[in-house]
Formats: sequence, C-alpha cells, structure tokens
Amino acid sequence: MNDINSLYINHLNDLKNKTENFLQEKKLDGLVIASGFLDYYQFDDHPLYFKTNPYLNHWAPIGNIPNCFLIFRAGKVPELLYYHPDDFWHKVAPLPEEFWVFEFDLKPIKDFKEATTYLKKLKGKFTYIGAEKSDLPFEVNNYEVLNFFNYHRGQKSSYELACLEKANYLAAMAHKNAYLAYLDKKSEFSIHKEYLNTLEIREIELPYNNIIALNENGAILHYSDYEKIAPPVHHSFLIDAGASYNGYHSDVTRTYTEIEEFQILVDLMNKAQMQLVDECKVGAKFGDLHIMANEKVGEILSEVGIINGGPKMEMARYFFPHGLGHPLGLQVHDVGSKINDVKGEEIPPPIEFPNLRCTKTLEEGNVITIEPGLYFIDLLLEDLKKDPLGKEVNWDKVEGLKRFGGIRIEDDVLVRQAGPINLTRHAFEKN
Ligand code: GLY
Ligand code: MN
Ligand code: MN
Repeated sequence: MNDINSLYINHLNDLKNKTENFLQEKKLDGLVIASGFLDYYQFDDHPLYFKTNPYLNHWAPIGNIPNCFLIFRAGKVPELLYYHPDDFWHKVAPLPEEFWVFEFDLKPIKDFKEATTYLKKLKGKFTYIGAEKSDLPFEVNNYEVLNFFNYHRGQKSSYELACLEKANYLAAMAHKNAYLAYLDKKSEFSIHKEYLNTLEIREIELPYNNIIALNENGAILHYSDYEKIAPPVHHSFLIDAGASYNGYHSDVTRTYTEIEEFQILVDLMNKAQMQLVDECKVGAKFGDLHIMANEKVGEILSEVGIINGGPKMEMARYFFPHGLGHPLGLQVHDVGSKINDVKGEEIPPPIEFPNLRCTKTLEEGNVITIEPGLYFIDLLLEDLKKDPLGKEVNWDKVEGLKRFGGIRIEDDVLVRQAGPINLTRHAFEKN
C-alpha cells in the first residue's frame, strides 16, 4: 500500500469518529451524502459536465459519478450506493477497485428508483447533504450539519495535505511548460494547450478556467478567452492555473516579463507576497493580512513612482480590487472562509474592507491562498481620475505600464504552529 493510501485510512477513521460524535450529539441516526444528479442545457438533451458533491469527496475520491449515495451510521461500515446502470449509449464506469473502496460496503445500483427504495427503508432520523430531489425522505442541507463539515474541511488531514501537495506538483509542472511556450512567443491559446498537454487532461478536468493572459489582458481579472493569434510583442504573461488530485485542487498564479521596467514591479510584488506568506501564522486574522497586503501594494506604487503621495492604502484599492486569498481544498474557493467554529458563527470583515470574503483567524492545518495583485484596469483608473486622490498619480507612468496588464502572484500555503509551509514554492523547486 503506498503512502497516500495509508494516510487515507487515518483520514477516514478520524472523519468517522468526528461524525459519529456529532450525530450522537444531535440525536441523529445517520447521514446520507448524494454525489448529485445530471443537469441539462436549457431546452436541450445534452447534459452539463457533472462534478461530484465535494462533501462526498471528503469521504472518498469516487470520481465524477452522479446518482451515488454514501450512507453513514455509527458503528457500521459506511455504505456506498454506486451508480452502475445498464446503459449501451454511454461508457459505464467499471466498479471501482481503488484503495478507498475497501473501506466501504459498495452496493451497485441501476437507477435512482433503486436508490430511493433502499434509502426509504433506512430506520431512524437521517440528515442529508446534496442536491434536493423529491422522493427523498430526509431533512436536506441542515445549516448545523453543513457548518460542522465546513469547519472540519478547513483542518486538513495528512491525507488531504498529500493530495494538495500532489495538486501543486502537477500545476508547477504544467506552469513550467506554459512559461516555455510564452518564451517561445506562442499565442494564449497555444500556451493554454501546452498546459493541458503537460497534464494530459481535457479542459473540463481543470479545477477552474485557466487564466492565460498576455500583455494588457492581464488586467482582466477573470480572463479566459485565449486569443489564437500571438501578439506582435510579448510584454508580459500572467498565468493563473491549477490542477487536481483525488478531488483536491491547487490554485497558482505567476507573472512574467522580460522587460526591466515591469520586472522591477514583479520583483517588488514577489517580495511582498513572500512576506505576506510569512505572516500566515496560527492566530493571524485574515482581515489583518488583507490590510497588510494593501499597505504593501501602496508602498510598491510609491516606490516605483506610480503615486507621488496620498494615503497608500486608499490608493492601493484602485490597483488591487480583490481579496488577498481564500481557503483551498475540495473546492478552489473552499468552504469555511468566515468561520472559526462548528456553529458557523461568521467573523465580520474589517471596517476598511466590508466586502472581504475571507475573514477567518488562521488555525493549525488550514490551507489558504496568498495572492496579492496590482493591475492597470481602465474602469478603476477612470474612477481614480475622478477621485481627488487622482492628483497624486503619475498618469504618464500609468499609461506606459498599461501594456503589461497586471501582476498577481499566488501560492497555496499550509498554516502550521511551527510556521507556514509554502506548498507551491516547494512544488516548483521539486519539479
Ligand atoms: N483562480 C481563482 C482564484 O485565484 O481565486
Ligand atoms: Mn485563488
Ligand atoms: Mn488563482
């Protein structure tokens, strides 16, 4: 048995123990988690690509199979109703034989009807996590139940960390080839294909749409259009692209240039990003880290002469409009970004940033992204021009930098009592 497999057994046993105690406390007899159901395009008979409910992947990496149900009852081997239809139109996935299967009582089912017949016979009070479907006799997505798992999903087990390490390793490998394609003056589309080729995956298997942005496209925060023709000049390259392993994701951004004027900015941002990663200590408030990031962006703007004066943090908002990061795991924007307990009490954002989405205090075993940015976004620059603070800006300098789009540097960081571990930089070094 390889390492990750034995770590999985410990992960599952711990999850079973915690869930058993929780169910007892809530006077529940069991838990059902559905993988989900196929959905279709509007007015069409083509299904949307299916992804399994991440709450189920927390228990086992079953893959993307609809109509499966996990049933957990205290003291019993968990059951998995595994969808295995008679179907000659599609390839039916063979019954799984991977390491995790041996921990479950696997029951192949032909259809939803067979599953509901089985589920309706369960005795006692069950709670259910998953997409709603009439005919299921359970309370659905109870707030307390979800928060219990949301909180525990934040504290990564050794198995989950091994998966996240692997997801980072894969992303680093593909990032390196994408960078070579950029140096080769390829188009965005070709660079994107190089990324997919390296991982030998289809686009749909990515954890999120790759952002592959050359030049001014780096200023479009969620850019994923991929121009097929290479630009006449490659000023800069921003790549935000991840990978997945056993349902766990990496989320990684790098910014490159070969032009010194912009490289100075990239180097300053890289230094600031690493300082922010160093601050990811147990007990650090994410809201404070976000404020710190804005201060650093303000300092960079001042150091390179983009701004001549004015309140740095106020100015930084026009160049850094998103949050510093988010929890990462079975979802790219993982659950639990605002909570520090199983009850789900939300930590309010700092007054300076009322829209901040990640506000939690960092705890042992959390994995978060740290992704400060600095962009030249026309719409925000127009706003800044109208703001009295606009008079502090060196607009000629800004005009000259627009061709580079922007910078983001994003790493995945494990929070540890002994100090943070940068999973992404380790992965780049190992590759
Ligand atoms: N790639 C998504 C994000 O950085 O949050
Ligand atoms: Mn991110
Ligand atoms: Mn990202």
